[in-house]
Amino acid sequence: MNNKRIALITGATGGLGTAMCKKLYQDGYIVVGNYHTKEKAEKWMEERKKEGMDIRLFYGDVSDFNSASQMIKEIEAQVGPIDILVNNAGITRDARLINMKPEDWYAVINTNLNSVYNCTKNVIEGMIKRNFGRIINISSVNGQRGQFGQTNYSAAKAGMHGFTKSLAMEVAKYGITVNTISPGYIATDMVMAVPEKILNQIVAQIPMGRLGGTHEVAYLVSFLASEEANFITGANYSINGGQHVY
Ligand code: CAA
Repeated sequence: MNNKRIALITGATGGLGTAMCKKLYQDGYIVVGNYHTKEKAEKWMEERKKEGMDIRLFYGDVSDFNSASQMIKEIEAQVGPIDILVNNAGITRDARLINMKPEDWYAVINTNLNSVYNCTKNVIEGMIKRNFGRIINISSVNGQRGQFGQTNYSAAKAGMHGFTKSLAMEVAKYGITVNTISPGYIATDMVMAVPEKILNQIVAQIPMGRLGGTHEVAYLVSFLASEEANFITGANYSINGGQHVY
């Protein structure tokens, strides 16, 4: 293994974030996570400790530039330079546009898209200096194809991939890769919050006939983080059970 590289996963306490933390820890990385809700974070760290995983969580509101910047400074001072950044934090506020309140629009754009700028901007200079980096942006099938009730979420998730493609060009010569992963419907709390009847209709559209597992997305993160993946940049990896093929 290559490692003692340091990986930061935002939104670490969610379903996908947890699976990514565990997988990268098992790969041998030093893993740190970002959290937003204190009670959830304490319970989460306890659970990892019981599983024998030493993964520290740092507070940060990634939708806010100053908070993200402060968090990354703290991590770099206490743990070390961040080599791998997984921009995973995300929320939904689903509604048809006609019913979508400004706060639902801005919350999703700030948390899902502006967070990518806020975190990446604070690690990219160090990665350039060290001639190594991995930026992995967790987008969505709904950013690739649109989804009824998700103008905010789909716009943010599509925007992430535009960011990926442009930054990939800017930093390729410094040994930094920038890629997007677009998961389909994965069995997380976020997806399970979709009303059951609608979720059943969605699963019926997935050729594999099931939701994805969080470990399946984590495996792809591990692959893109690896040294061996160093010629892959500006790419978008779909992982959706065949729900959207193009
Ligand atoms: N296609 C066409 N019409 C639809 C529809 C669809 N997919 N979904 C709902 N409608 C229609 C209904 O039939 C109804 O029409 P009528 O009024 O003519 O009967 C109308 O929309 C109802 O809309 P309302 O605004 O009154 O709202 P609602 O309370 O029914 O909820 C919704 C609308 C919030 C969009 C709800 O349908 C919903 O939650 N949909 C799921 C959205 C979704 O897939 N979110 C993904 C979350 S998980 C995630 O985002 C992770 C990831 O990356 C994949």
